[in-house]
Amino acid sequence: MSSLKALILAAGEGTRMKSDTPKVLHKILNKSMIDYVLDAASDAGADKICVVVGSHAEKVTSALEERNITFAEQKERLGTGHAVMCAKSFVEGEDSDILILYGDTPLLKGETLKELVAFHKKEGNSATLLSAFVDNPKGYGRIVRDSKGLFAKNVEEKDTTDEEKKINEINAGVYCFKSKDLLYALDNLKNDNAAGEYYLPDALEIILSAGGRVNTFAAEDPDEFLGVNSKVQLYEALKVMQRRINYGFMEDGITIIDPENTFLSPDTVIGKDTIIYPGVFLEGGTVIGRDCEIGPDCRLSSVKVGDGTTIEYSRIKESRIGNNTTVGPFAYIRPDCVIGDNVKVGDFVEVKNSTVGDGTKISHLTYIGDTDAGRGINFGCGTVTVNYNGKAKFRTTIEDDSFIGCNTNLIAPVKVGKGAYIAAGSTVNRDVPEDAFTIARVRQKNYENGKNKLKL
Ligand code: UD1
Ligand code: CA
Repeated sequence: MSSLKALILAAGEGTRMKSDTPKVLHKILNKSMIDYVLDAASDAGADKICVVVGSHAEKVTSALEERNITFAEQKERLGTGHAVMCAKSFVEGEDSDILILYGDTPLLKGETLKELVAFHKKEGNSATLLSAFVDNPKGYGRIVRDSKGLFAKNVEEKDTTDEEKKINEINAGVYCFKSKDLLYALDNLKNDNAAGEYYLPDALEIILSAGGRVNTFAAEDPDEFLGVNSKVQLYEALKVMQRRINYGFMEDGITIIDPENTFLSPDTVIGKDTIIYPGVFLEGGTVIGRDCEIGPDCRLSSVKVGDGTTIEYSRIKESRIGNNTTVGPFAYIRPDCVIGDNVKVGDFVEVKNSTVGDGTKISHLTYIGDTDAGRGINFGCGTVTVNYNGKAKFRTTIEDDSFIGCNTNLIAPVKVGKGAYIAAGSTVNRDVPEDAFTIARVRQKNYENGKNKLKL
């Protein structure tokens, strides 16, 4: 069985993005455009993928270094056909089918490509191109058909006659070729056109003239080949992707109060009966369990949340939150936290690189950093783990069922034993034994009539 390759053209300058970031690395819902295209190619069954890079080549190759793909370099931008020529060694080799896609069409679906390839194989085509009828064909290559209605050629906007300009069937810029037919066409491609470029779609006419079979496959959804060239188009693509993702979740039984105002990355997982309020951003493979309430106004990056948990107006990074826990409003959970079940992380609480055991309450205005806190602890308002002495950081250990009075400073390294009780306002710099009552503050003095004596 012949394999399927995919070649992705991404050598464009992307000048209209007005950005130092290469165009194809711009993100939609926290995933770069080229990553969408690469995933669509893989979903369609492509097992060998090559990306043609041009300017900013290093930034693109390093962003994709973890993927099992190869790169070809197009030093001069001489057209889409030339870009494919630059990857000739990738096209060569074993006989196979090869998909050609653009790196700036993030909305293309793997299933559409799969259908295109299946059609290409079934028809025994030398080349198949994705075509579409659009209301405004301006800027696209037009598909010219012969008297029998069969594909005859593609004409680029710049080269069209007035008659051809009216054609509203366009080349969507997605192709599947038999590799040996593509190689033959590349050898015969010329740049004698209005732009002086090597046009990839000219390969179709060349293959046809040599007796090959060329067919179009109709795209149903014009969004799929929307090319992103500017920040406005990036936004337009985001809106389409956002709707696809959010409507998908709603179909699966998740309530999204306002899908236009909810930003879920495609790698997000959410359990049934969870409610997502507006202003929520979930990214970095965040997983939310069942029966949760998330939002309004939360951003979670690489977070795993259990079932029945409520999180509102909060920021959480690279951490795990258990079941039936509440976070926020206005909590900040920084990386490497493991928060247990039935925990309360209340308003203006910051937790960093810490574990918090089941049933512990950190209700308000507290900083827990570099701490191992057990179960059933009550943190009074304004507790601070003093983890940094200006040079180094130290850990605090707080054992189960202890009570930390309001405004306690725990100067690390320090340990509070199981069931201990620390009086409010204490500054604790020595270990507290199990079940101890600890008070570490200056004794109050009352000077009777002191106000008069001191003339206050
Ligand atoms: C191309 C097609 C047109 C089709 C349209 C669909 C040609 C000549 N025309 O036009 O028929 O309707 O796509 O969107 O192919 N690229 C390179 N190197 C180059 C030139 C382009 O890598 O030298 C890449 C670009 O980064 C881009 C893609 O190829 O991702 C398409 O190039 P672009 O210039 O946008 O082609 P269009 O003029 O839109
Ligand atoms: Ca384009």
